[in-house]
Amino acid sequence: MSNEVMLIRGGIPLEGTVRVSGGKNTSVAVMPATLLSDEPCVIENLPDISDVHAMVDILSSLGAKVSFRDGRMEVDPTSVSSSQVGYEHARRLRGSYYLMGVLLGRYHEFEVAQPGGCDIGLRMIDQHLKGFRALGASVEERNGIVTAKATRLTGAKINFDQVTVGGTINVMLAACRAEGNSILLNAAKEPHVVDVANFLNSMGASIKGAGTDTIRISGRPNLHGSSYAVIPDQIETGTLMIAAAATHGDVVISNCIPTHMEALTAKLLEMGVRVEEQGDAIEVRGAGPHRGVRVKTQVYPGFPTDLQQPMSALLTTASGDSEIYETIFENRFRHVDELNRMGANIRVSGRLALFTGVPELLSAPVTVTDLRAGAALLVAGLMASGETEIHAPEYIDRGYEHIEDKLRALHADIRRERLG
Ligand code: EPU
Repeated sequence: MSNEVMLIRGGIPLEGTVRVSGGKNTSVAVMPATLLSDEPCVIENLPDISDVHAMVDILSSLGAKVSFRDGRMEVDPTSVSSSQVGYEHARRLRGSYYLMGVLLGRYHEFEVAQPGGCDIGLRMIDQHLKGFRALGASVEERNGIVTAKATRLTGAKINFDQVTVGGTINVMLAACRAEGNSILLNAAKEPHVVDVANFLNSMGASIKGAGTDTIRISGRPNLHGSSYAVIPDQIETGTLMIAAAATHGDVVISNCIPTHMEALTAKLLEMGVRVEEQGDAIEVRGAGPHRGVRVKTQVYPGFPTDLQQPMSALLTTASGDSEIYETIFENRFRHVDELNRMGANIRVSGRLALFTGVPELLSAPVTVTDLRAGAALLVAGLMASGETEIHAPEYIDRGYEHIEDKLRALHADIRRERLG
């Protein structure tokens, strides 16, 4: 845990316009995907977050020439000289697992340590490995390291036993340089699956059907360089929408894709929040009482699990009862104790959280346990009267670019201090 603390004096309605940054979960896949090319690539709109910096370090450690400045990364993959990603690198982010698909597709082998990332459940990767095996790789897991080798990679039909975002993208990455055709069935449909497919197609890959549950890939022997900008972050957009509602503010969230937000928008409307789409912006007006609602997390286009935690902060003060049923990860309620410390009334039973609305949240010292728990506590801090002290705020830096600056520009009273 760092010795920093985030301090928020809450109760101020957020007001103004805020611009959404590039997507975290698409960036951490598009960045390694550049290694599938035989030529340099340029990626733009990358967020300045710690997960992106961790991925820059991994690509550099493999021998790629990488420069990253002002959201723009130039990668020359022609100097890559290693197919090994050790524990020190892999543990820094979940997205390190994408090096498996990329290195297998490009070099027909990899030795990559099991990925790190937020502790929100078991987070298996068996479906990724099942896909690699179907493409012809022999795969072993030993001492926390996954190794794979293939003399030839050949297209295959892969039916995922479980809808998995990471697994879908990882197998797509490897399959686009396999010989012949692949079909991925029961594929994830999240916006970043589509974004990664669009990037790969811009490099000369042939991927059809991304965004549906059936993805068809014709493998290509070579991919060329490309210049690409990643899509805006769906979860940052949603977190800002929730924060606007939770503070009874009036915020225009610009540079976003409103169609990606429909599940959240529907819930906010149901609560009595006003939400209006304006081209590539969404205005959220949260004045007035909020009604309690029932939320069930689901794969896209359902309500995203990544927004369940910030949403739970908003639900603490909604009138009557609310509930959240988490279907994706079995341990994603670690923020609840902290919300209760701030006066919320939430009971968790397995995957179900039951809320009884309280009139207000009160400031308290709280600790972040994972990225979106951090987003929940940030929203709670903005709601609470008094000064909330958020410990371990570095988790928030994994996924939210310059969040204090953005919130300050919306009139929030927020700052970070070193302890001791
Ligand atoms: N699963 C398996 N086997 C697999 C893969 C997944 O059983 O081989 C299970 C998982 O245990 C989980 C469920 O399937 O219960 C969904 O996992 P998925 O693979 O879809 O998630 P992920 O790839 O580990 C990504 C995001 C998460 C986001 C989830 C769901 C990245 C780097 N991470 O994780 O993002 O919550 O998809 O949308 O893209 C976050 O941003 O805070 C975050 C955790």
